[in-house]
Parts: sequence; structure tokens; C-alpha cells
Amino acid sequence: MKILVTGINGQVGWELLRKGPLHGCRIISFDRNALDITDSQAVSREIQNNSPDLVINCGAYTAVDKAEAETEKCWSVNRDGPAWLAASCAREHIPLIHLSTDYVFNGQASKPYTETSPTDPLGIYGRSKAAGEQEVRARLERHLIIRTSWVYGIHGHNFVKTILRLGQEKEELKVVADQWGCPTFAGDLALALLTMAKEIHAGQSNCWGTYHCCGATAVSWHEFATLILDLARKIHPVKVRNIIAITSEEFPTIAPRPKYSVLDCQKVYSVFGIQLPDLFSSLEAFFAEQEK
Ligand SMILES: NC(=O)c1ccc[n+]([C@@H]2O[C@H](COP(=O)([O-])OP(=O)(O)OC[C@H]3O[C@@H](n4cnc5c(N)ncnc54)[C@H](OP(=O)(O)O)[C@@H]3O)[C@@H](O)[C@H]2O)c1
Repeated sequence: MKILVTGINGQVGWELLRKGPLHGCRIISFDRNALDITDSQAVSREIQNNSPDLVINCGAYTAVDKAEAETEKCWSVNRDGPAWLAASCAREHIPLIHLSTDYVFNGQASKPYTETSPTDPLGIYGRSKAAGEQEVRARLERHLIIRTSWVYGIHGHNFVKTILRLGQEKEELKVVADQWGCPTFAGDLALALLTMAKEIHAGQSNCWGTYHCCGATAVSWHEFATLILDLARKIHPVKVRNIIAITSEEFPTIAPRPKYSVLDCQKVYSVFGIQLPDLFSSLEAFFAEQEK
């Protein structure tokens, strides 16, 4: 099947480009320069000219803190981009898989968020992503909105790479211990997206709507950092000796973060049979890939 993927230079897009052909999918790939999703005419033209079987939107404005200052840019990419994609897909009768985020929630829950939990984003990034979801729902029936969380991949910047770097540079690290979420390996998510795409192509039709799809283990950032460095130590010497647990108040950020953004992924399991691996297995896969 032929899949048009936007934002190919991001963590998830890059994995789709790599993994697609191994799973029988031809990926028509666009980075931001080749297709800016805020350009409605370019979006319409490329979807029409390439006539893919399905579109996956990995293009997004993901700089959570910077978004508070670059508000217009963030809204344009995260709300208007998905709107143009959904409108073009509707015209061409093509389904769309659109990625969204745990940051659509306010983080005040004490049990995992389901797809029907009310959204209440805290910052500009979360608000713009929630608005992007609404645009897709309003314009295209045959869509999947896939909310994921705490993404880390081989390609691009992320928490795992930052902790590995700091772990080589410092003897002591301070990491926030009162925010919980589910880290998601971009490679695992890409495989899940390809599975969904293939199910749709094979005729699965009772699946449209919103899904949560993230790694199977919920941790705090502090627990996540500790596990990363434990695994790193098995491969290379690590300088850091002490990983100190701190509160969010001790590590202020420009944009507020949800304290608890664990996503319930039962629905994606019951409809598509998809369950992402536990954190330990995914991190081991990440390290194995890094070492190649
Ligand atoms: N990263 C996370 O922790 C996380 C968590 C939850 C949900 N998500 C969601 O998951 C999806 C993929 O995230 P990711 O981690 O792969 O993000 P990423 O690494 O930041 O990649 C996003 C890509 O979008 C591209 N892009 C930006 N503006 C664009 C535009 N106007 N037109 C086309 N492409 C554009 C960027 O291009 P450049 O490379 O040129 O900047 C980048 O390659 C996003 O929808 C994100 O909101 C991510």
C-alpha cells in the first residue's frame, strides 16, 4: 500500500520511513521543506497528485515551551495543518491517521485517561493539538486520531538522549519525580501505525475515531532517568552517581505540564490488537539500535 507521510524528519516520521518498506508499505515522504502542512494549496496538490491509499500526519510544532511565545506559528501547524490535510483527504476519499498528545489533558486525574475523558489542555501546545483534533473530526469521517506520550527515538532530540548526555557529563542529576506518564519508543509507535494502516487497507471499517497508543509502563521522569542510566551503565561507564528526585516547583518551565498524563490503551488493543511493549524492553531496543 502507498502511504503519504508528512513531517518525515521527526522522531516518528523517520521511523515510518525506515520501517514502512519492511512491512510492505511504500512511503511517499515529505519533510517540512517538501510539504509545509500550513500551505493548504500544497497539501491539496500533493495529496491529489500522489493519490496515496492513506495519509499519516507526523508534522507538528512540538516545542512545548517555545509555543508560549510563538503562539501563532504553533496554532498554524497544529490546528490549521491537520485541518487542510483532513479537508484534502475528504475530497480525495482517503483516510487520515493524525498524531496527537497526552498534553490535551490537565493532568489532575488519578487513574489513566481514556479516549472519552474530557480534555482540558494547560498550555498553548496542548490547546493547539486539541484544536487540531477537532478540525480533523469536523472534516473527515475516515480518520484515526492517535494520542501518544513522552516520545523518544533514535532520530531527533528527546529526554533519553539528554539524560545519556548529562549522565556522561555530571556526577549528580536532579530530575522531576512528581510528573507521571508513559514513555513511548518511536520505533514501537511507527510499527503500531503501520499495523493500523494495513488493517484499514484490508477493509477494517468500524474503527474510525480517537485512540490512545503509548508505551505500556507508567513512570515519573525520575524513574525513567534512573532506568535509562541503569541500562546505559551495562554498555558504557557512566559518570553520574546520584539522581536526585525533585518537584516540578523546583524545576519551573515556561509552559505548565500535566502532572499525571497516563493514557489507557485498552481501546487500541481491543480494536487493532495493538499493545506497545513495556519500558524495559523498549529501552533495550533503543540501546540496541543506538549501538549499531
Ligand atoms: N515528542 C513527544 O514527546 C510527543 C508526545 C506526545 C505526542 N507527540 C505527537 O507525536 C507527533 C510526532 O512527534 P515527534 O516526536 O515525531 O515530533 P518531532 O520529532 O518534533 O517532529 C515533528 C516534525 O514536524 C515537522 N514540522 C514542523 N512544522 C511543520 C510544517 N509546517 N509542515 C510539515 N512538517 C512540519 C518538523 O520539521 P523540522 O524537522 O523541519 O522541524 C519535524 O520534523 C506529533 O504530532 C506530536 O505532537 C509527540
